[in-house]
Amino acid sequence: MILNILKNRFTLALAGFIDDPESYLDLIRPSQDAKFGDFQANFAMPLAKKLSRVPREVANEIVARLKIDDLCQPPEIAGPGFINLRLRNEFLADMLRKAVNDENRIGVALIEPSKQKTYIVDYSGPNVAKPMHVGHIRSTVIGNALARMLRFQGHRVITDNHLGDWGTQFGMIIYGYRNFLDREFYQKNPVEELSRVYRVVRQKADESNEEIAAAVLAETAKLHAGDVENLKIWNEVLPHSMDEINQIYQRLHISFDYTLGESFYHNKLGDVVDDLLKSGIARETDGAVGVFFDGEEVPMLIRKKDGAFLYGTTDLATIRYRLETFKPDAILYVVDFRQSLHFEHLFKTVRLTGIENIELTHIKFGTVLGEDGKPFKTRSGDTVGLNGLLNEAEKRALEIVRSNDKSGFSETEQLETARRIGIGAIVYADLSQNRESDYVFSYDKMLAMNGNTATYMQYAFARVRSIFVKGNIDIQEIRTKTEKLVLTEPAERALALELLKFGEAIGLALRDYRPNFLTAYLFELANKYSVFFEQCPVLKAADDNLKTSRLLLCDLTARTLQKGLELLGIETVERM
Ligand code: ARG
Repeated sequence: MILNILKNRFTLALAGFIDDPESYLDLIRPSQDAKFGDFQANFAMPLAKKLSRVPREVANEIVARLKIDDLCQPPEIAGPGFINLRLRNEFLADMLRKAVNDENRIGVALIEPSKQKTYIVDYSGPNVAKPMHVGHIRSTVIGNALARMLRFQGHRVITDNHLGDWGTQFGMIIYGYRNFLDREFYQKNPVEELSRVYRVVRQKADESNEEIAAAVLAETAKLHAGDVENLKIWNEVLPHSMDEINQIYQRLHISFDYTLGESFYHNKLGDVVDDLLKSGIARETDGAVGVFFDGEEVPMLIRKKDGAFLYGTTDLATIRYRLETFKPDAILYVVDFRQSLHFEHLFKTVRLTGIENIELTHIKFGTVLGEDGKPFKTRSGDTVGLNGLLNEAEKRALEIVRSNDKSGFSETEQLETARRIGIGAIVYADLSQNRESDYVFSYDKMLAMNGNTATYMQYAFARVRSIFVKGNIDIQEIRTKTEKLVLTEPAERALALELLKFGEAIGLALRDYRPNFLTAYLFELANKYSVFFEQCPVLKAADDNLKTSRLLLCDLTARTLQKGLELLGIETVERM
């Protein structure tokens, strides 16, 4: 959008002046203060240093080479050499018009074909047969938002749910199934009974009951060795546990292109170890096999003494499979920061095998805390189940909907609205954090009508939409009107500029894979709209042209909010 157009103009101006214009373009930024114009280019200083010249002179020279009159007022040079740009209203109005007419992308250009990449996004990946808890929400919603944004930019995106469906938890389940299962209850309520059995065994193993701990390991080993009975139990319990997980995905509107869990790779692990041994990248150590790294004492183990493979072995096999099958340019792993060392080792091993031309990124995130500042738990000290969490959010949202209801919603409408608000609140609360920080889970805060919440954003959207209902206005018809947009009021102009930054906000959110850049943008947009709405009458505008112009700003605001929320995996409501 705007920033890209400006960058192109500066590239042309800098060509022939310096060799590497590209590397300076990041120094063109929105101005912090309107008195410095709308955008500022701050590269005269570093350039002057490089060329051993006076910054202001360099700035003058660049401005002289710059062909930008159709977009901006004549650039001003301030202080030591800041180039201040103020966009022409006609240019802004033109851009807005294009956005209005662009049904699906509201003016956001697709990425250039030469920059399109294939991304694999590895996210969610819960450990099947353990109850899914609040921590899993982070990977799930962050991964989903990133995948949606990348797709919207025009990349090829493959989502893959690397389920933990082959780990020691199955040893526990199998042991529990054999020794503690309440058959009758299991028939009626398999998921609950399996998680009870899991907890029983886990507790006994944790209480350093060595006999049970050993039995669990033995059951896991038997499963991995292809024992028929254990495989039968595995095949029987897996779908039950998947039912529960899928229910959560449905509630969050999440689906994956592939769900290739750890079990999918189990017969490929031997080869991985053999090949790494053969190439000398891995070596034996005390009967086990590990990959050693320069300057590090601890290796990455890929086969234990007893022959068992590890989490890392599976991840190596997974990378190999993904490279062969999907030929990706990048693999993104959205996983808890506590696995940082695992991914460092994994990526180093891949590089040791000579694979360089692929981006491998661990997108880390912090912990969800309770109001007491400790990892979020129920009163009884259990981890909080995800379904219960979503239920509670919907329940509280329903109270809000009922107490605010001026629109005479039917019971069904109330429930549907509460569903969207409740789920949206949880998703947005997570995405609006700097992902690397821990955050405190609070229903009250996430459902607040004011502040940086989904509820506020959904409310802003519904408020914009209500103007069209109130004024009995046909949105489609308004969009076809050809009157020029009017941007004379500062609040109109500020809203217009903000609307045109949507594409940049997505780019910023993807630069370091931080969805909170998009939530921050949407919050800013909603605030700019609020000021506009206070200062600029829409339905009672002075004349028809102005009314149309303002309605178009409203329409574009609503569509941008809606699209932005959709990219985050959040639904809107027409009324609330
Ligand atoms: N199952 C793992 C866990 O719950 C997450 C999997 C992440 N993806 C991966 N390729 N290792 O900790």
